[in-house]
Amino acid sequence: MELAELLRTRYSYRAFRPDPVPADIVDEVFRLAQATPSWCNTQPWQVHLLSGEATIRFGEELGEHVLSGAGEVVYLGVPAYTGVHAERRRESGYGLYAALGIAREDRAARAVQMLRNFSSSGAPHTAVVTSDRALGTYGAVDCGAYVGTLMLAARSAGLGVIAQGAVAMRSDFVRRWLGLGDDRLIVCAFSFGFADDADPVNRFRTTRADLDAVVHRVDS
Ligand SMILES: Cc1cc2nc3c(=O)[nH]c(=O)nc-3n(C[C@H](O)[C@H](O)[C@H](O)COP(=O)(O)O)c2cc1C
Repeated sequence: MELAELLRTRYSYRAFRPDPVPADIVDEVFRLAQATPSWCNTQPWQVHLLSGEATIRFGEELGEHVLSGAGEVVYLGVPAYTGVHAERRRESGYGLYAALGIAREDRAARAVQMLRNFSSSGAPHTAVVTSDRALGTYGAVDCGAYVGTLMLAARSAGLGVIAQGAVAMRSDFVRRWLGLGDDRLIVCAFSFGFADDADPVNRFRTTRADLDAVVHRVDS
């Protein structure tokens, strides 16, 4: 698939079929993602790739941890969004609930959907992306680029992916679960597999700002 076509047809998928992804396809997607550029070619991303039982156990135990209210909530960015960022966040959140037929006031259904942020949503694989904390912002920036490349590589291989920043909000749990030290910054997770096209959540589409709202041209 041409890059333009890939970019136009990549979406986040939030429901998956349980079918395993053949190992050669998984390897090829991660091999392609290695092409991601990074500052000074540091390639700071490290990936813990969970499969099979580990994927299920991680999602279940993380979900239980979130429900228990235990542990600290870690914000890599801001705890609250303002202005246009708050508007876009609200629009995509409500759009997702609308696609699922969840009413704004239906707190129970929203709580169930919120918990899906922490599970693989049926996908056979969850991957946790970490950086060396000492690399600071650019370590995380490079990891973000890596996840972007990987999502396109996965799409070109016929796979669906959902990035899971929510998992990083529970960094202490994730570090403990994976046996990682405090020197590892948990950037995000993502789950991937064959998308379940029958699930309405996968028909949810987001919009993008116009170019004029993004590109500020300076000519003289
Ligand atoms: C770094 C990152 C973290 C994300 N974390 C979550 C998440 O925790 N839960 C979720 O449902 N979607 C998550 N997403 C998906 C975004 O909501 C989605 O990419 C955005 O709304 C644009 O929609 P699209 O991917 O369908 O184009 C994340 C995306 C990125 C890039």
